[in-house]
Amino acid sequence: MNEIYPVKPLLEALDGKTQSVPPVWLMRQAGRYLPEYRALRRRAGDFLELCFKPKLAAEATLQPVRRFGFDAAILFSDILVIPHALGQRVAFEEGEGPRLDPAGDSAAIARLYAAVDHSALDPVYEAIHLVKSALPETLGLIGFCGAPWTVATYMVAGRGTEGGVPARRLALEDPIAFGELIDRLVAASIEYLVRQFQAGVDAVQIFDSWAGVLGPRELERWCIAPVRKICEKVRAQWPKARIIGFPRGVGTALSRYVEQVPIHAVSLDWTIDRSFARDQVPRNVAIQGNLDPVTLLVGGSALDREVEDILQSFVDRPFIFNLGHGILPETPVEHVERMLRRIRGADRK
Ligand code: CP3
Repeated sequence: MNEIYPVKPLLEALDGKTQSVPPVWLMRQAGRYLPEYRALRRRAGDFLELCFKPKLAAEATLQPVRRFGFDAAILFSDILVIPHALGQRVAFEEGEGPRLDPAGDSAAIARLYAAVDHSALDPVYEAIHLVKSALPETLGLIGFCGAPWTVATYMVAGRGTEGGVPARRLALEDPIAFGELIDRLVAASIEYLVRQFQAGVDAVQIFDSWAGVLGPRELERWCIAPVRKICEKVRAQWPKARIIGFPRGVGTALSRYVEQVPIHAVSLDWTIDRSFARDQVPRNVAIQGNLDPVTLLVGGSALDREVEDILQSFVDRPFIFNLGHGILPETPVEHVERMLRRIRGADRK
């Protein structure tokens, strides 16, 4: 039976199964902490070139899976390919992070394309096909997009910000224009995720990295309602769509998020109290997380202790081991290996 229908531990967790050894993958598992990624990045030159050359993107996706044997691959791409496909200029400057032509007022927002230009995103779908054909059948393939609020913080400011002040300001000063931007991102994200499923991903994660800077009313309006709409509309077209939500930094508002957004799993950042999460996340929603990336960077007994605590906290429910945010570029690969041995039992007791 298993030879015909190989079990994918990631999907079992998403479908509600409790496992003695949880599946594991890491946010930003393809990236600069890997020497093979740095070599590939040098070959590609520009970061967006790497995202938009299907063979290179597929290779970057597969590198961490090959090296560590994670239970899932996450498509190598970026949340900012959506602004690019909406006609905004996006560039990644060496050592500086993303730079966009700011869409900071109603005129700039009106100039964006009304719908995503899928021809700009075809290389992403092509990369999914390539990864799918190379990936062992027991491993899951995760696609993703940024949540509208998080993507909007970059589009409005034209760069990364601490606290999303330009987007929060526009949302207050011109809620109609900001709402128009969010609506376009909702429509774009629905189409983008459905196409990722059609191309072969098993699940998708919606990254809301900046959800935590919003007040309660704004969280409802700019995060919870748009992400709920994305989930509902994607499922209307792809009924089996498995979706992971990542509302980073929302603290106690986690309860409202999991109550109102129909997701298969919620990814927790490391600041969340684990017993609070156990109480608040319904058992039919898997938990994913939530090792502090700094603990993985430091390694040693601090890492062992924390891995143990996470496993103890979530053993008796559907659970996916992950970080609470992306892996830091300075992280030694040996620490990832040590973490995996602890999770998979080789180093325990
Ligand atoms: O997780 C993975 O391995 C898949 C690939 C992935 C990347 N970005 C590759 C990347 C994913 C899922 C993302 C998501 C992403 N991108 C988010 C949401 C998650 C999060 O980290 O909060 C955000 C906010 C972005 C936007 C972005 N992309 C920023 C702010 C930066 C610059 C900062 C940084 O970490 O370098 C990027 C660049 C980026 N995206 C890199 C990678 C591997 C580094 C680029 C390089 O190689 O120079």
